Amino acid sequence: MLRAMLDADIAAASEVWQTAYGAMAKEHRLAEPVRAEVTDRRLEDRLGHFLRTDPEGSFVAEPEGRVVGFAQSFVREGYWVLSLLATLPGNQGHGLGRRLLDAALATAPAGLPGTIQASRDPSALALYSSAGFSCHPAMKAEGAIRRPGPPDPRVRTGGPGDIALVDAVDRRRRGAARGVDIAHMLGVAGNRLLLMEDRGYAVARDDRLITLGALDEGAAVALLQTVLAGIPEGATVEVAWLTSAQQWAIDTVVRAGMALHPYGAVMVRGMSGPPAPCIPSGGYG
Ligand SMILES: CC(C)(COP(=O)(O)OP(=O)(O)OC[C@H]1O[C@@H](n2cnc3c(N)ncnc32)[C@H](O)[C@@H]1OP(=O)(O)O)[C@@H](O)C(=O)NCCC(=O)NCCS
Repeated sequence: MLRAMLDADIAAASEVWQTAYGAMAKEHRLAEPVRAEVTDRRLEDRLGHFLRTDPEGSFVAEPEGRVVGFAQSFVREGYWVLSLLATLPGNQGHGLGRRLLDAALATAPAGLPGTIQASRDPSALALYSSAGFSCHPAMKAEGAIRRPGPPDPRVRTGGPGDIALVDAVDRRRRGAARGVDIAHMLGVAGNRLLLMEDRGYAVARDDRLITLGALDEGAAVALLQTVLAGIPEGATVEVAWLTSAQQWAIDTVVRAGMALHPYGAVMVRGMSGPPAPCIPSGGYG
């Protein structure tokens, strides 16, 4: 019933994700994502990216000619990441999610480090915990920046030519580079790269911080402050996946007057905790 995902499945997988996540959000009284063409396109674009880089890491469940679930995972220099896992509400609770997760896990040796940015779905948290991942509850800062601060003058705008610098930071902080994913993020309209000397980087767009990695907390704070300073006046912004390992980020968003809310968990294996100072991306790891 499980098979490899194909390009032709991308639209169906995107629908499964939107339906499953929307139903879960409604059931648990969380904010339901507002669907828009631009977000649908971004999701399909990301599904296509990982299908190209790691075709063996994506699976669909298609019991009767219809995609009812999928998992997408990838490996970067020995670092395993689950990008997405979803099953349609009518097909949940019968072991399908676990079969999809097991298929994705089987693409890499169990001893490799790995991460999953888990939603607030109790089933997802149960599945990942029972698969051997430790759970690190996360907060999301969201909304208006009530106390905007200045950008840090040491931070500059970067581009695709700076991927080697980003790779060097990621190898030291996460133990693995992901230049192919950073390059893909920079190809998405609106995304920008910021660099703090050779000590760290952030990828952001006008409504969110996408990911950040730094060699030290001073550089991480300078980057996050500069991202927040670049948000258009009056706009709302998200900085998600802030675990207790990222107190520097929690301090920074609170200083900017942003509101913190509980938001899922960063699940890790093969590491004592989430890499720090780093802010992962939900889908890119
Ligand atoms: C997470 C998801 C993929 C699970 O799919 P599923 O097909 O229901 O998964 P399974 O039936 O294999 O397993 C569900 C597990 O959760 C457990 N579970 C179900 N409801 C639970 C609850 N309220 N509290 C705790 N555990 C629960 C089940 O007991 C089962 O574990 P078990 O195999 O040890 O008994 C599905 O619920 C989903 O699509 N959710 C919405 C999208 C989402 O948030 N995905 C996670 C992204 S990180």
